Amino acid sequence: MKHILRMSDLTNEDLYRLFDQADKAKDNNLHVNQQAFVANLFFEPSTRTKTSFEVAEKKLGLETLDFTSESSSVQKGESLYDTVRTFEALGANAVVIRHEKENYYNELLEGVSIPIINGGDGKGEHPTQSLLDLYTIYKEYGYFEGLTVVIAGDIKHSRVARSNAYILDRLGANVSFTGPESWQDKSLAFPYLPMDEAVEQCDVLMMLRIQEERHQDRINNKQGYLEQFGLTLEREKRMKPRSIILHPAPVNRGVEIASELVECSRSRIFQQMTNGVYVRMAALEHVLRGGTEDEKTTETSTHLSR
Ligand code: CP
Repeated sequence: MKHILRMSDLTNEDLYRLFDQADKAKDNNLHVNQQAFVANLFFEPSTRTKTSFEVAEKKLGLETLDFTSESSSVQKGESLYDTVRTFEALGANAVVIRHEKENYYNELLEGVSIPIINGGDGKGEHPTQSLLDLYTIYKEYGYFEGLTVVIAGDIKHSRVARSNAYILDRLGANVSFTGPESWQDKSLAFPYLPMDEAVEQCDVLMMLRIQEERHQDRINNKQGYLEQFGLTLEREKRMKPRSIILHPAPVNRGVEIASELVECSRSRIFQQMTNGVYVRMAALEHVLRGGTEDEKTTETSTHLSR
């Protein structure tokens, strides 16, 4: 059985196969031809991840089991483990989980025997966001080796930064960070650049959301933050002609990035969201099939073994 919990769970072979499957999804050529149920267990707010998993599940022909912790027996004290085991007992074939607790999945791995896709674990990782970011870059450039990628902003509290820095480095990109000193993460061995250098050097500028829910550092002077650390109209003009802008969203317009740049010609922010449906279709198909060990069922459809 395969989970997708961290980017290190995926080999490079897995990644390129997921991109191929995402291409098929885009062409309406990826389906699961057997009844299967997927439970979307979101314990933290989400618009993009939750909705794109729902759309992905419907497009694959899967049955989606909706869940909100506010109206569930979590309110009566049910643990995460018992919630997941309950969905498994009720017939779920896979679960997608977002949770505020880093590495929440460690308490599930022993007893749960259906695949888990991590929809974000606290400051830990956000592997399907990383997959859609990689897919967006790959569709743009066709390779990763030698690309200069700068990840900008609240590095310390960002699961997106953690997933992407690791995997882009493994794929041969030159990864750097930029951001305020207090949000630097020295446990990640990547160099920091001033934003003014970063914009001129990067092929991909990956802006991050300020994770206000994970720290107490409120930005009182938004214009001052934008001018010192963010992507201003003036900085965008100094980017290389072909460079692109990514952001996982939601965007704090006028703080991380000037509002006008969110939909500028080099922004791929809404394209990332569209790509998120395709890569999540590919990710669901991957875990339901059991990973790359069982290739025999997967040309255009998947038959489940359960
Ligand atoms: N990018 C992302 O994870 O967005 P949501 O929090 O809306 O899912």
